[in-house]
Amino acid sequence: MVLLQFWRNFSTTMRHLKSVKLKNVKGTSSHEWLSRQLADPYVEKAKMMNYRCRSAFKLLEIDDRFKILRPGFVVIDCGAAPGSWSQLAVKRVNSDGFDPKQAQGVVISIDKQQVFAINGATILGNMDFTDPKSQDVLIETLRGRKADAVISDMAPNATGVKDLDNENIIRLCYSVLRFAVQNSQVGASVVVKLWQCGQAKQLENDLRKFYDSVKFVKPNSSRSDSAEIFLLGRDFKGLKV
Ligand SMILES: C[S@@+](CC[C@H](N)C(=O)[O-])C[C@H]1O[C@@H](n2cnc3c(N)ncnc32)[C@H](O)[C@@H]1O
Repeated sequence: MVLLQFWRNFSTTMRHLKSVKLKNVKGTSSHEWLSRQLADPYVEKAKMMNYRCRSAFKLLEIDDRFKILRPGFVVIDCGAAPGSWSQLAVKRVNSDGFDPKQAQGVVISIDKQQVFAINGATILGNMDFTDPKSQDVLIETLRGRKADAVISDMAPNATGVKDLDNENIIRLCYSVLRFAVQNSQVGASVVVKLWQCGQAKQLENDLRKFYDSVKFVKPNSSRSDSAEIFLLGRDFKGLKV
């Protein structure tokens, strides 16, 4: 009798779950999201390689092509949570000292959210990168060193209003650019994530004022149906004083 009642309740719940299409903030149903995750080879690969999320492969592709991370480099990872870019950066710049024959780099990871510890990275969690006080802490953490790469995968919370979202991500990009030009070595690189939008061209032109080589990059691991794109600046010219 109890078993029968349990089975009835279970079936009713399952029928209910099938009929309900939960919506997440981006407007994709949970079912669609789950199917996409299960079919995504990068999700599986990230698990196998112990990366905290699939985003690792975007930076990996960018670095494999453009060699912006080398042993001994100082890297600032903006919008680092949950931490896969920092995990990759640690390996590439050898900031955990894993290879004693190579120079040991530095990775500083900052995010508005908490970031769980990563061996070889200095974590600045619960800090808004755009807040001048957070940037003071970043500069203190640099202890007089200049960055070789400032990388940003930061994205604002989507409001659903496209123009506003674009404006917000562009504002984040400019705050990264401002910080990078003031705290980078000559020859350094910068990577910022943005969404393809009207302001992208202006940002590219502004980057050209400070970096000899500037280009848009869309890694294969960045979903083709996403407007996401990365702007890469290499060979920082330095600030004329
Ligand atoms: C797509 S996730 C980054 C994923 C990360 N690259 C990785 O591989 O694990 C974007 C992150 O940007 C952070 N973010 C957005 N605005 C920020 C801000 N103003 N300051 C610091 N972090 C910010 C968010 O909290 C979020 O964790």
